[in-house]
Amino acid sequence: MIEYHIENDLSPEEFKDILIKSTLGKRRPIDDHYRISKMIKNADLIITARDKGKLVGIARSLTDFAYCTYLSDLAVDLEYQNKGIGRELVRLTKKETPDASLILLSAPGAIDYYPNIGLTRHDACFVLNDIKDLKLKA
Ligand SMILES: CC(C)(COP(=O)(O)OP(=O)(O)OC[C@H]1O[C@@H](n2cnc3c(N)ncnc32)[C@H](O)[C@@H]1OP(=O)(O)O)[C@@H](O)C(=O)NCCC(=O)NCCS
Repeated sequence: MIEYHIENDLSPEEFKDILIKSTLGKRRPIDDHYRISKMIKNADLIITARDKGKLVGIARSLTDFAYCTYLSDLAVDLEYQNKGIGRELVRLTKKETPDASLILLSAPGAIDYYPNIGLTRHDACFVLNDIKDLKLKA
């Protein structure tokens, strides 16, 4: 029986642990405690999935609860994947922010997952990774 809760005060250690156990840790700064701590501290909505207290899934979002919700990290422990936990975490995230568009960038391995659970692919998404890439006017 998986229990879902809002846990905006999740510890950085548990966050790091679920990132590793889901494999998402390969794409997140897990060895940088300062950044991991800030990712938790400054998130607006953290929904957890627990099995008898053990953290087995997380959805970490930044949201204004009115217009946009950026779902930054969706991660489910490898041993618990394909049981509907990811879908439920997305559902609860949207339920908490019903007026806001839920937006995310997919990890390469999850590109087919999101349309499978009903999200719409958007071809007008843009990313600025490095400020040096910004073309300033001469
Ligand atoms: C992607 C992830 C969050 C999905 O969570 P999950 O709990 O395993 O997925 P669900 O059980 O909700 O899956 C729902 C459906 O999607 C399918 N699915 C699961 N993972 C998938 C994947 N990576 N690609 C395509 N389909 C996938 C399931 O088979 C299931 O299909 P069905 O409805 O036809 O039975 C989870 O696999 C994970 O943590 N992956 C590693 C980290 C990652 O890539 N996170 C995404 C970051 S953007």
